[in-house]
Amino acid sequence: MSCGHCTCKESRLPTTYRIAAVKKETDMVTTITFPVSLGAKPGQFVMAWLPGNGEIPMSVANDDGKNLRITFFAVGDTTREMAKLKKGDLLGLRGPFGTSYEWKEGEHLILVAGGYGAAPMYFCAVEASKNGCSLDVIIGARSKEHLLYAEEFRKLPKTTVHLATDDGSEGRKGYNVEVLKELLEKGMAPDQVFACGPERMLLAVSDLTAQKKIPSQLSLERYMKCGYGLCGNCTVDPLGIRLCVEGPVVKNETARKITEFGNYHRDELGKKHSF
Ligand SMILES: Cc1cc2nc3c(=O)[nH]c(=O)nc-3n(C[C@H](O)[C@H](O)[C@H](O)COP(=O)(O)OP(=O)(O)OC[C@H]3O[C@@H](n4cnc5c(N)ncnc54)[C@H](O)[C@@H]3O)c2cc1C
Ligand code: FES
Repeated sequence: MSCGHCTCKESRLPTTYRIAAVKKETDMVTTITFPVSLGAKPGQFVMAWLPGNGEIPMSVANDDGKNLRITFFAVGDTTREMAKLKKGDLLGLRGPFGTSYEWKEGEHLILVAGGYGAAPMYFCAVEASKNGCSLDVIIGARSKEHLLYAEEFRKLPKTTVHLATDDGSEGRKGYNVEVLKELLEKGMAPDQVFACGPERMLLAVSDLTAQKKIPSQLSLERYMKCGYGLCGNCTVDPLGIRLCVEGPVVKNETARKITEFGNYHRDELGKKHSF
C-alpha cells in the first residue's frame, strides 16, 4: 500500500528484504545495505522491522537508486538484535517517510553532523554534490573511534571535512558547533547550514544560525510509531505538527517555534522527559 497522494514509492506496510551487506563501522555502529531503492531523499527515514522484536525509525544513510542503507547505534533491544544480523538475513522496511533537506544548485552548504547524524548528512552530501554544491562538513564525536563517514565524505568533490572530538583524539578538541562558530567568525558565508545529531547540538546550531541570520535546516527526532501521521505520537508542543510528516527535517524558523525543542521529548506513552 502506498501513500495514495503522489507517485513516491512510500510503502505503509513493511516489506522484508534480504540483507545485501553488513559493515561494522565501530564496536557500537553497524551499517546494513538492502538490495532495493525506495526512492528516498536525504533526511527521510524508514521504519525498520525486526520480526518478533520491534519496529524502529532509522534515517536513510544512502539510496543510490539500487541500494538503500541504514547506519545505527546498538543502544537497546531492537538495535542490539539488528546488529547481530548477517548478509542474507531478512529485515522489514516501511517508508520512506517525512521531509528532506532542500537546497538549490551550486549552493555552498555547511553540514554539521553528530553521532549517527553523519549517516543522513552523508546521503545529503552525495546528492547535493550531484547538484554542484560545495560543502564544508563538520563531524563531531566523543573520540576518534566514534567519528563516522569521514573517509566517505573526503571522496566527494568540492568537500572539506572538519573533525571535532570531545577528547581531542582527532581534529579539534571540543564540539562540532564550536568549529561552525569559528568558520562563521572567520567570514565563511554559506547559503545554508544543515544539521543532524543530538538535540543539544541542534539547539546550538539553531541559536548560532539565527543570530548570524543564516538559513538552516535541522532534523528533529521524536518517538515514532506509525511514521505517516496517524497515531499522533510524534506531535510537538505547541505547534502540534507531526514530526514524521511535517519533519523530521524542519527549517530553523519552525524549530524555534517548538517550545519543547532542546527542553524535553515524550516517550511511547506521551510522558515528558527532559534532555
Ligand atoms: C526520524 C528518526 C531517525 C532516526 N535515525 C537513526 C539512525 O539513523 N541511526 C540510529 O542509530 N538511530 C536512529 N534513530 C533512533 C532510533 O530509532 C532509536 O535509537 C531506536 O529506536 C532504539 O531502539 P531500541 O529498541 O534498540 O532501543 P530502546 O531501548 O527501545 O530505546 C533506546 C532509546 O531510543 C529511543 N527510541 C526507542 N524507540 C524509538 C522510536 N520508536 N522512535 C524514536 N525513538 C525511539 C528512545 O529515546 C529510547 O530511550 C532515529 C530516530 C528517529 C525518530
Ligand atoms: S509517528 Fe504516528 S503520527 Fe508521527
